[in-house]
Amino acid sequence: MDTLKEKHSEPANIHEFERIAEEKLKASKNSLWSYIIKASGDRQTYDESMRAFKRYFLQPQVLTLREKPSTWTIVLGNPIRIPICISPVAGQASVIEGGDALTGDAAAKAGTLMVFSSSSSMKIEDFGKVVPRGLFWAQTDLYRDKKSILNIVRNAEGLGFKALVITVDTPVEFMASSGKSDIGDEVDTTETNGAPKKDGEKKECKGCGPTDDTPWQPKTCCAKNETFCMATWQDLAWLKSETKLPIVLKGILTAKAARRAVTAGIDGIIVSAHGGRQLDGVPPPLMALPEVVEAVKGSGVEVYMDGGVRSGSDVFKAMALGARAVFVGRPALWALAVNGGEGVRRMLRIFEDEFTSTMAMCGCQQIRDIDSSFVKHESQFRY
Ligand code: FNR
Repeated sequence: MDTLKEKHSEPANIHEFERIAEEKLKASKNSLWSYIIKASGDRQTYDESMRAFKRYFLQPQVLTLREKPSTWTIVLGNPIRIPICISPVAGQASVIEGGDALTGDAAAKAGTLMVFSSSSSMKIEDFGKVVPRGLFWAQTDLYRDKKSILNIVRNAEGLGFKALVITVDTPVEFMASSGKSDIGDEVDTTETNGAPKKDGEKKECKGCGPTDDTPWQPKTCCAKNETFCMATWQDLAWLKSETKLPIVLKGILTAKAARRAVTAGIDGIIVSAHGGRQLDGVPPPLMALPEVVEAVKGSGVEVYMDGGVRSGSDVFKAMALGARAVFVGRPALWALAVNGGEGVRRMLRIFEDEFTSTMAMCGCQQIRDIDSSFVKHESQFRY
């Protein structure tokens, strides 16, 4: 294991992180690897999330650069050194002990933001103790159990987290169609509260407690209360009345939902398809991004995106299409698997270097220079 770690400790790009993580995890924790790479249905949304970036081409400006580009930007009033942040991801502690804290520390050292997942096996209060410095937002679903939500909110407030991220694309748990991962390994493909399930462990719904092991988990558990674990805009209004923290909705993919979110008084939107792990067939986030940006124009709501971001060039393209910053999910897990916190630090440094050179090569001095004139969709070229 150590030899493998040493041999592979210096991946040169994000794809190498994936390859090495696959090699290491398949050798030691095969079902964890399957959990990380799983996607729902036919994997259309998952596959397209990466491919969407390839359909845009860069349009560099020339002779405009005076000095090294600055990658600093501001999210909800807080400066970050690079517009590449960490999505909320469960399972980090399964990859390596203390995984969430290692990622949080690496993000803080890189000068960027991490979203702490409510499905983490580490408690938010413990995370706050071991990672006292850094910029953090806290993610939660709108669970039926309001006490669970308030516990996260009060801890986030007390720990100085700067926003709440509410995941809205999981009204019910979705199951991969076949129950098999694409590597042919029999795995648990349900995303129970986002966290991987250990052998023999009962699933637990934050609303109803332990449940039967079925694909449509909330239906079974909440059937006791004759309803699914669904949340509505009223639940969001309740949450808003409970806290002064800014609220970011994660999982919006349409102009219609974005306009509704603006009316609800939210502060930010993460255009996201949950990494292709929930409703298969929705558009890849990069394709949905322009219409969401357009829909919230003039409202002051900040728009970010995640899903399929694998290079600095991808980051640049998303920002050209209107994202204020991007988030990455799986790359953080791969980096943890490759080399713990150091791996995450290196992964962020690679993104930073690639993004900075893309800015320079395109002739962008500042983040605010990046706009839609720097990208062209393949359909706009005359062949
Ligand atoms: C996730 N994601 C996720 N989202 C969320 O809101 N709460 C969560 O607990 C989790 N857990 C989780 C676990 C794992 C293993 C993965 C891969 C993803 C979704 C995540 O925040 C993000 O939307 C996607 O991962 C982005 O896509 P990429 O960067 O993985 O392509």
